[in-house]
Amino acid sequence: MPDRTQTIAYPAPGSRPSRRDPEPLAPHVIVLFGATGDLAKRKLLPGLAYLQQSRFAPDVRIIGTATEDLTSDEFRDRAKKAVEKFGTHKMSDEEWAQFAERLEYVPVTAGPEALAAAVKAAEELLGPDARRLHYLSVPPKAAQAVIAMLRDAGLVERARVVMEKPFGDDLASAIELNDFVHETFDEAQIFRIDHFLGKEAALNILAFRFANGLFEPIWNRNFIDHVQIDIPESLGLDQRATFYEPTGAFKDMVVTHLMQVMSFVAMEPPTALEPRAISEEKNKVFRSMLPINPADAVRGQYLGYRHEEGVAPDSDTETFIALKVEIDNWRWAGVPFFLRTGKRMAEGQRIISIAFKEAPKTMFPSGSGVGSEGPDHLTFDLADSSRVSLSFYGKRPGPGMRLEKLSMQFSTQETGSAADVLEAYERLILDAMRGDHTLFTTAEGIESLWDRSAPLLEDPPPAKSYQPGTWGPNAIHQLIAPRAWRLPFEREWREAKQ
Ligand code: BG6
Repeated sequence: MPDRTQTIAYPAPGSRPSRRDPEPLAPHVIVLFGATGDLAKRKLLPGLAYLQQSRFAPDVRIIGTATEDLTSDEFRDRAKKAVEKFGTHKMSDEEWAQFAERLEYVPVTAGPEALAAAVKAAEELLGPDARRLHYLSVPPKAAQAVIAMLRDAGLVERARVVMEKPFGDDLASAIELNDFVHETFDEAQIFRIDHFLGKEAALNILAFRFANGLFEPIWNRNFIDHVQIDIPESLGLDQRATFYEPTGAFKDMVVTHLMQVMSFVAMEPPTALEPRAISEEKNKVFRSMLPINPADAVRGQYLGYRHEEGVAPDSDTETFIALKVEIDNWRWAGVPFFLRTGKRMAEGQRIISIAFKEAPKTMFPSGSGVGSEGPDHLTFDLADSSRVSLSFYGKRPGPGMRLEKLSMQFSTQETGSAADVLEAYERLILDAMRGDHTLFTTAEGIESLWDRSAPLLEDPPPAKSYQPGTWGPNAIHQLIAPRAWRLPFEREWREAKQ
């Protein structure tokens, strides 16, 4: 295997040290809370296995813990199935064996002492430089109990703690949770994860905006008509009713992923790509957001949701939400951001679409087609194989002046380094082990988002039903009129030639 550390931007030899330099990776004991849950199965265990296989990770030992009574062997069996089913890279038997011997399991019922003993044993194998990474893959309500357990088990020193979203349920609970966690861990030890910020495509928004002179001058209300962040999912609940019923689409996706991504689109250029500067600019976006007006939101629930196992027969949980968000600052005042996401929708897509203001059209002959296919768009596809497309009007070849929509497309898949793409969780786990907060969210940012969401949370419009396999309730069209939703696309993405 090549030395993967070369792909990380370490400082050049002999250069002056700075606070922004990444820490070298120390050996780590990773304690995975919620180790038998959905996220661990789909993303975390396959991601950790790949980090080990690819040698991106330092020397690690992983201790899974959850309420289920399993032996370490049973846990390894489950982990193997998860890696086989959800892993993005095939592992040889030898590679699996090397990973498996690093996995242990301690049930929560065994108590804090048993967990502390397992961590200590793992640290002895790793040597005196070993650090701890506690990954809390647990719902917001369980987070406090886990933090208390870590304190009781004496596992706070030399430790960092990764906390999953949603962080709290509303402003009051987020403040309470932040205060509670701060009693045990310093802010520097806390990593509030939002995996959308680790997606290669999300990071490409920063590169695209700030590493080029081309787009930034037009990235404002003088040239941009509106923005859409549209993340429909075709998948349904997938046995996650216990998590989803009290959460719903707004807390699961919007106040978290969609708004975090929105901040990358909307923020001012940070002074540096480092945690403080980026957080400052993101938090300014959140503070400039107008409180969400419930009249600007469409909540939906797919027909059949109430019959899902674990769902209340009279549930009002939304499985769909579309809303208009306004950022009242000099760059964005008057430019609406339309956000939409939902389960069991027509297609799974993750796009950001920037619609530019239209050109004057009268100079073109009538019937030329100018403006007939909507405004020019810049579209980011946040899929793992990230893409960017710019659509514009061009002349259709032949006599006269007929116009048609054309596009230029870039796809990561077409570059030589496509195989180096890290899955979002893989990247963020590595960043947390290195102590790099750049792509993590802050207490202040999260609290601002809950604050701006309060009117909607306090007075949510009733959830309208929609047929599974559609784009949501009909009211979505009124919400965006006179504009229109980009999805479904009138033209498909062009697939990369192999
Ligand atoms: C998770 C949500 O955070 O993100 C899920 O809890 C959602 O409901 C998922 O399906 C989407 O993430 P991705 O990376 O698969 O698009």
